[in-house]
Amino acid sequence: MRILVCTAAARSLLGSCGRRCNTRRIIRYLKKRLHANEPLLRDGGIDIKATKCLMRCSDGPVLLFHNHPAKTWYRYDGEHDIDELICEHVLGGRVVERLLLAESSRPRSVDNDGKVR
Ligand code: FES
Repeated sequence: MRILVCTAAARSLLGSCGRRCNTRRIIRYLKKRLHANEPLLRDGGIDIKATKCLMRCSDGPVLLFHNHPAKTWYRYDGEHDIDELICEHVLGGRVVERLLLAESSRPRSVDNDGKVR
């Protein structure tokens, strides 16, 4: 599984994730929490990647769980949401409905490196 975290913070609509939340701190927190839970992960290893804008700025800050071929988009407000996503989605295999982004406004395609097409 790969977790793509938008860290864009430009001074325009594009880049709003990094202005709304300290996304670098969130990535450090994600790594710390996942490392602590590593023995519980079934298929070993989760890669976390900082990305540029994922074209969901108005919903941000956003992240994308990419477990090929499934992609699940979430928004978050801080570490408490990250805790819930790790507990429910990563460890429990359950979608966190309250943080899920609507499918209608998702980009057509985002590759495994976070490039939007
Ligand atoms: S700045 Fe994060 S989706 Fe655009």
